[in-house]
Amino acid sequence: MKIGEKVIHLPTCSSTNDVLRELAEQGEEDGVVVLAEEQTAGRGTKGRSWFSPRGKGLYLSVLLRPERESALFPLMAGVAVAEAIAEEYSLWVRLRWPNDLIWEAKKLGGILCESSFAGRKLSYVIIGIGLNLNQLEKDFPVPLRKTAVSLKMILQRDFLPEFVAGKIFTSLSRWYNIFQAGGDEQILKTVETLNVFQPGDEIAFTSKQGQVRGQFLGLDRYGRLVVRAQDIIRTFTSGEVLSPVSCLAPGEEGES
Ligand code: BTN
Repeated sequence: MKIGEKVIHLPTCSSTNDVLRELAEQGEEDGVVVLAEEQTAGRGTKGRSWFSPRGKGLYLSVLLRPERESALFPLMAGVAVAEAIAEEYSLWVRLRWPNDLIWEAKKLGGILCESSFAGRKLSYVIIGIGLNLNQLEKDFPVPLRKTAVSLKMILQRDFLPEFVAGKIFTSLSRWYNIFQAGGDEQILKTVETLNVFQPGDEIAFTSKQGQVRGQFLGLDRYGRLVVRAQDIIRTFTSGEVLSPVSCLAPGEEGES
C-alpha cells in the first residue's frame, strides 16, 4: 500500500505511535497512517513527552514493513519532512542529527522511530512525526518558549494538518523507495547537506556514556555520528547534539 493511502483519523489518542503499534500487531499493512488531532501522552525521544495540544500541531505515525533494519529511518523521515516543507512553502528547514527538524536553531519538529522484531527479523517500523504548525510563542509551555518554533511563527499563517500530512506522504514515499532500492548513500548525503552541524564543527554531545565534546567528522555508512574527541575517533548511534559549540549562547556552554 502507498504511504497515506489509508489514514486513520483520530480526534484524540494517547500516542499515534502506540495506537499504530497495536494495529501493526493485528496485521495492518505497510503504509498505513494514524493521524490525531491531539495526543494525551505524546512521546518524544529519550523518554520525554511531546507537547500535543489539539489543532496546534501535526501528530502522525506511519507503519513501514521494510526488509531490513536500519539506523537511517529517522534520518530518511527527517529528510522527507524537510523536503516536503521546502517544496510546498519554499522554507529550507535543517536537520539536527538524528531526530530533529530545526529552524534558525529552534525546534520545529521531531521524529520518533520504533522498530519491532520477531526474533532477529524486523517485523515493522513505526515512524512518528511531530511538527509544530499553528502555535504562537505563548502556546508553548514556558520551558519550551526559547527553543521551539512553529510554521505559523515563521510564515504568519495557519496550516491544515491533513494538507501538510499529504505533502509529507508524497515525499516520504519517494525517500522510502530510494531506501528500498539501496540508496543509503543518497539519504546520508542529503542528511549531511541539511544537518545544522558540518564536518569540522566542534560539537557538544550527550551520549549514553555522558557528555562528549569533539570535532564532528561526518556520518558513517550506517548513519552513525563520527566524532574525534581527545584524539580518539568514536562513533555514536544515538544521542543528542546540543549545538555546534560556536552556536551556544554565553553561559550555555557545557550544559546538558
Ligand atoms: C522528538 O523527541 O523530537 C520526537 C518527537 C516525536 C513526536 C511524534 S508526534 C506523533 C508521534 N506520536 C508520538 O507519541 N510521538 C511521535
